[in-house]
Amino acid sequence: IKTAPQQKPGEEYVEDVKDRKVDSSKISEVWLPNSNTAFRLLMSANLCSALMNNITDCDETYNYWEPLHHLLYGEGFQTWEYSPAYAIRSWAYIYMHSMFTWAHFGFLNSNKLLVFYFIRMIFGLICTLCQVQFYEGVALRFGNNVARILLTFMVLSTGMFISATAFLPSTFCMFGTYLFMGLWLQGKLNYAILTVAASAILGWPFSAALGVPLAFDVLVRRQKFWFFTKWCLVAIATMLVPCFALDSYFYGKPVIASLNILFYNVFTEHGPDIYGTEPLSYYLINGFLNFNVAFILALATIVIVPLVEVIIMQKLKGYKPPVLLISFSIAPMYIWILIFFTRPHKEERFLFPIYPLICLSASITLATIQKLYGFFKLHKYLNVQWIAVVVLTAYGCISLSRSFVLFNAYHGSMELYPKLHNIADRADTSEKIIHICMGKEWHRFPSSFFLPQNFTLDFIESEFRGQLPAKFQAPGVNGTRIEPRHFNDENLEEKSRYVSLDSCHFIIDLNHGEKSRFEPIYSEDKKHWQVIKEVDYLIASKSNSRFHRAFYIPFYFNDRNVFGKYQLLQSKTNLLKRKP
Ligand SMILES: *[C@@H]1O[C@H](CO)[C@@H](O)[C@H](O)[C@H]1NC(C)=O
Repeated sequence: IKTAPQQKPGEEYVEDVKDRKVDSSKISEVWLPNSNTAFRLLMSANLCSALMNNITDCDETYNYWEPLHHLLYGEGFQTWEYSPAYAIRSWAYIYMHSMFTWAHFGFLNSNKLLVFYFIRMIFGLICTLCQVQFYEGVALRFGNNVARILLTFMVLSTGMFISATAFLPSTFCMFGTYLFMGLWLQGKLNYAILTVAASAILGWPFSAALGVPLAFDVLVRRQKFWFFTKWCLVAIATMLVPCFALDSYFYGKPVIASLNILFYNVFTEHGPDIYGTEPLSYYLINGFLNFNVAFILALATIVIVPLVEVIIMQKLKGYKPPVLLISFSIAPMYIWILIFFTRPHKEERFLFPIYPLICLSASITLATIQKLYGFFKLHKYLNVQWIAVVVLTAYGCISLSRSFVLFNAYHGSMELYPKLHNIADRADTSEKIIHICMGKEWHRFPSSFFLPQNFTLDFIESEFRGQLPAKFQAPGVNGTRIEPRHFNDENLEEKSRYVSLDSCHFIIDLNHGEKSRFEPIYSEDKKHWQVIKEVDYLIASKSNSRFHRAFYIPFYFNDRNVFGKYQLLQSKTNLLKRKP
């Protein structure tokens, strides 16, 4: 990192936040990686996410990967949300992703696992392209110092590791936030409006809230009423109409899925709260785990930035802080926080859409602290850059330590499946279906993309008493249009989902050392079951040190935590035929 040329105290960072449009020749005062370099750094991080991140949330499996699997291979699981009676998920969103795989079916004839990781890498690529737009916008408006802090926050973030390649509408909206903020900062208002519309229409309707400051900018500040209407109409014509057509086609009746999800969340009596409610601390802890110091800086933006600007304004005659720019940039994050921190039902993924803004706000705050420091020249020998170096180093270490835990502790559940492919190669699976059974671990199924041809997942009873997903009853649109039986929208158990243990050829289960009536330790039943592969898996409930469970410290991590075995068991009674 090169330091800025010697200047009068405070001047360089005052310079940095000025509206750049006027004089872009000054941009290169502090060294900044160019867009190509930024692209490479971000893409490397996102590829790590694509290959190493697990599926954090069973909603991702059953609401997105499974319906996609159904579209591509004619079978898969569905949740009640996909029942035409409720129709609160959009098939258009799923269909959009099936397009990435056309080449695989047209020419490549790849196996399913490859298709799965291919799609994840496409997510990584799209994410990177949106991030680069954002980066360019921030560099243009906020200057190089803020932009390079931002780049560091984005590349090393655990939050990005988790979210960048998830197959979730919240991730789609996060891409949207990167893109629309980037375009807005670059003054490309029409594309920014289209991007917000795409997030809301194709992804998640609530994400429109993030666009409120943009709408305010266009309608109130710039008074471009006709312009705004025109681009909204374009969005409706190019997105809402095809989306409506596709959803209606797949559901077999006219459906606007985004309206249904709005109604479900806002107007039904219980809404999503039956899936559990959490206190506010849930988001605070989660935000800290995913962004550590950056999260704290981001939350503090609204206090620190105005305070510092006022101080400087009083000391420096004629200094005008970029009030509008900063307010517009941080407003969407705070709007989102106001809306979502106060809902009782909380999930990690609900914050994905503001991950870009957390990084941006944190960068603005850090740069502002630098500015204050530089202004008062608090220390004779230390240049203002040391603050950023210290904060970013701490951030990087904590983030990497956290991402390491996520991989080390939890990747076991995805590692058993390749073994099934070996077995499938040797066994004669031509005539019958091979049944893989899961009980309490049903929510860690990484999707049917991990199962070989002719293998299928079934559920056996466990202590879980909620509603499990069910298989589509027919391939293609026949399956998506049928009103499936035995579904409710109150998360009540449906006994019809379970199969008997005798029908299982394999069981996948986590052995955490405890058993109960419906959750025996299958590997102890040596007469019926044989372990053919097992991998360590962290047992959170038994690992008492919250710190060592959350952050990886070499050596301590394995000592202080308790690991169970994620096991693949084969039946000794229900045998497979060998290939002739
Ligand atoms: C993936 O990791 C998360 C921790 O981030 C864990 O809660 C979850 O159960 C893991 N999922 C699988 C499929 O292992």
